[in-house]
Amino acid sequence: MVEWTDAEKSTISAVWGKVDINEIGPLALGRVLIVYPWTQRYFGSFGDVSTPAAIMGNPKVAAHGKVVCGALDKAVKNMGNILATYKSLSETHANKLFVDPDNFRLLADCITVCVAAKLGPAVFNADTQEAFQEFLAVVVSALGRQYH
Ligand code: HEM
Repeated sequence: MVEWTDAEKSTISAVWGKVDINEIGPLALGRVLIVYPWTQRYFGSFGDVSTPAAIMGNPKVAAHGKVVCGALDKAVKNMGNILATYKSLSETHANKLFVDPDNFRLLADCITVCVAAKLGPAVFNADTQEAFQEFLAVVVSALGRQYH
């Protein structure tokens, strides 16, 4: 269990408060599918993901990106208990979707890149990055918890 400092909690909430999840979600999920193309295999029902342009224009990718970021929003609001917040989501990814948990880290990195690019270096400075990446590391760990 992570004990967040007040400074970390307020930094993470502040960063997240500046992010439009309807914008960052589609960008981050699209990016993971482009940069790590093997992740496309999980989204066979999403239609055309054959080129970067097709991925970024695919409405199902965009919609699912928003769903993913909606789940992150829950974690920001339950920072004291991310493990419990993600228990059933972890089970779903492990036992129904069979997503290799290594991919969680890849998506987390794409989220960081997209948030950093959006907010710019003055807002997303090294201190901000440290807190935000620690938050995502806890998310990744919680999502991987129900894998045996
Ligand atoms: C930050 C990490 C992630 C979060 C917060 C997250 C969140 C979610 C959520 C909330 C759902 C909907 C679950 C439901 O409807 O019961 C979902 C579904 C899904 N996730 Fe994840 N996910 C993450 C990472 C990944 C990764 C890395 C992959 C694969 C590379 C993945 C593949 C899927 C697939 C295939 C579905 C089902 C999509 C559909 O058919 O609608 N997820 N995820």
